[in-house]
Formats: sequence, structure tokens, C-alpha cells
Amino acid sequence: MFDRYQRKIEYVRISLTDRCNLRCRYCMPEEGVEKLRHEDILRFDEIVRIVRALASLGVRKVRLTGGEPLIRRNIVELVREIHAVPGIETIAMTTNGVMLADMAEDLVQAGLTGINISLDTLKAASFTELTRRPFFTRVEDGIEAIAATGLKDVKFNCVPIAGVNEEELPDLVARFTRERPWKFRFIELMPIGCAYEAGFTGVPMAEVRSRLEASFGPLRPVLPEHGVHGPAVYYQAAGFAGQIGFIDAMEHQFCSSCNRVRLTAEGFLKLCLNARTGVDLRHLLRSGMSDEELRQALQQAIYCKPQEHHFKAASYEEKDSRAMYQVGG
Ligand code: GTP
Ligand code: 5AD
Ligand code: SF4
Repeated sequence: MFDRYQRKIEYVRISLTDRCNLRCRYCMPEEGVEKLRHEDILRFDEIVRIVRALASLGVRKVRLTGGEPLIRRNIVELVREIHAVPGIETIAMTTNGVMLADMAEDLVQAGLTGINISLDTLKAASFTELTRRPFFTRVEDGIEAIAATGLKDVKFNCVPIAGVNEEELPDLVARFTRERPWKFRFIELMPIGCAYEAGFTGVPMAEVRSRLEASFGPLRPVLPEHGVHGPAVYYQAAGFAGQIGFIDAMEHQFCSSCNRVRLTAEGFLKLCLNARTGVDLRHLLRSGMSDEELRQALQQAIYCKPQEHHFKAASYEEKDSRAMYQVGG
């Protein structure tokens, strides 16, 4: 279906929980987040019902996010059920990889088609310092488990931070893209979550790029096969099997071709990353709405998706200051 700016909406990002087994300093406070009440979180049957309605309106891709999606119990079953929904062609996940080692094979068997793994450093000590948890080896094992499945769409997300990981950016890229056709992406630090409280300064994407070019030579732009629908632009270094992506979060130009909506763990349909507008689907579902009414509610809401995000200029009412773990990225 199309919104009022003629954007084709084909992609839903579903946050399964706002809890996480890491405490990345730019994202969460040490004490974690106030737990949502069990009954305030969408059940899997409710999620599948919403996916079915969205698929009937033309949604083809689902991405499961968090917090950390893999801490939701029976997630493999959820992937299987979404995979069975007519119309859904792609099921991806954004994860920190901590619990992946034991689940990779089952997830892929159940129908997972892609995975984005967050990884900011290759040094175990820096990982523990940044995430406040000593799980670097678990993530490494998770990545190896994914490699063993042969999954094709594997991407990494890394937030470059001055004085934290800026020296190892070329190593990170080389490790995952020199031999393998994977994508390693850099995300500009965004003014959400605990980014400022942590006292972090992001490294501008132009600087990341020059650091990489100093190691690998000129990066060649990769033309998108299906147009620009996501926040990343991709490049390739000579002799590398994989690609390097840059997500210029603050300046990015993809709102005009944005194809996505979001569903929070509490069942709020969020129409844009940084705007409050949306619909409380959990409330509607639990008040006995029929499938046809659900479809119409979704259609009307999506039609009104905001034109662009408001990181830089927004009134307080419009702006949503929720952290990544609450909106699922
Ligand atoms: P695919 O396009 O499906 O690969 O997903 P993605 O790159 O959007 O997924 P991922 O969950 O890995 O998100 C990577 C980063 O992009 C996160 O920091 C997200 O917050 C950011 N991001 C995702 N969607 C949007 C968006 O609509 N607008 C902006 N500005 N950033 C986004
Ligand atoms: N700025 C930029 N990226 C962030 N992420 C979480 N919080 C922020 C922030 N404030 C990243 C995580 C993960 C991705 C989904 O979002 O590192 O890779
Ligand atoms: Fe967890 Fe991701 Fe936030 Fe880190 S950035 S604490 S992995 S939700």
C-alpha cells in the first residue's frame, strides 16, 4: 500500500521486547530499563495477526528487533509462524548476537532470511567496558554459528565513538568483509538513549570513510539494486568480497523513499523512527476488533505516515526521545 506521499510501504520492524542482556553505554543505564508488564507486551498470536493484516496490505518484509529479540522465549516458533504468513518474503532480525550460538541453525531452518549483528569492537576488554557485560566470546561464537548456516544476508552494525573504537574500524571491516560477502555498516551516534550522558562523541561518517581509505585505498560506491529504501549507502574496497555501509543517521536522505513502519513491543504502530504519531494496536486488538477493522485501521494509519523524521528540528510534542531499545532501531 501507499502513503499520502506515494511511498510504497512494504516493511515492518517489530520490536519484541525492550529488555536486553547487554547495557551498551550509549543506549541503556546500568540498572537496565523498567520492565514492561507481561500483559502490556504483545503476545505472539497478536503479532502474527498484525503481520497477517499488514501482509494483506502489501507488506513483504518483517524485521524482528528489540531490545534484544533473542531473549523472547520461543522466538524460533514466532519466526516459523511469520514465515507461514502468505505474502511475507523476508524475515530478518537485528540482534547483539549474545544468544545466537545455540539458536542460529534453528532460526534459519524456521525461515529467517537475514541477520544484522551489532558489534562495536573486536577487543574483549573494550566490549566489556562498552556493553558492561563480558560476553564478547559468546558473540564471536554466534557469528561463527551464523557463518555455518550459510545464511546470505549477514550485516554488522557498528557505532564509531571517539576514543573508544575509532582506531579499530579498519580491523572490524577487514575481519568480516575481506573474505566473506557480508556487509559491515557504521552508524552515526544519534542523540537518543544515553549517548550524551555517556559523554560519547560520535565519529562523523566522512572521517570513518577517510580512516578506511587510508587502510584500503579508495572505496567504490555500490549502486543499489532495488533503489534506496534503507538508511545505509554501500561501498566496496578493492579485493574485498563484502561491502561497507554508512548510516548517516542525522543527515540521511532516505525519508522520501522510506518503505517502513514499526511496531513496538507494547503494540504501538509507530509510523516514523522519531515521531510520536501512531496507533495503539494492542488496545484495539484487545477490545475485540475484527480482522477487517484491523486492516482498515492499519491502512488509515499508514496513509498518514509523517513525511520525514525530526532529529534536528522538532517541537517537543512531535519528537520522540525514546531510546533504541524502546523503538527497536
Ligand atoms: P535493513 O534495511 O532491513 O537492512 O535494515 P536496517 O539497516 O534499517 O536495520 P537495522 O535494524 O540494522 O538498523 C540499523 C540502523 O539504522 C539502526 O541504528 C536504526 O536505528 C537505523 N534505522 C533503521 N530504520 C531507520 C529509519 O527509518 N530512519 C533512520 N534515520 N534510521 C533508521
Ligand atoms: N546512536 C546510534 N546507534 C545506536 N544504536 C543504539 N543506540 C544508538 C545511538 N544512540 C545502535 C546499536 C545497534 C543498532 C540497532 O542501533 O548499536 O547496532
Ligand atoms: Fe542492547 Fe542494542 Fe541497547 Fe546494546 S544497543 S544495550 S545491544 S538494545
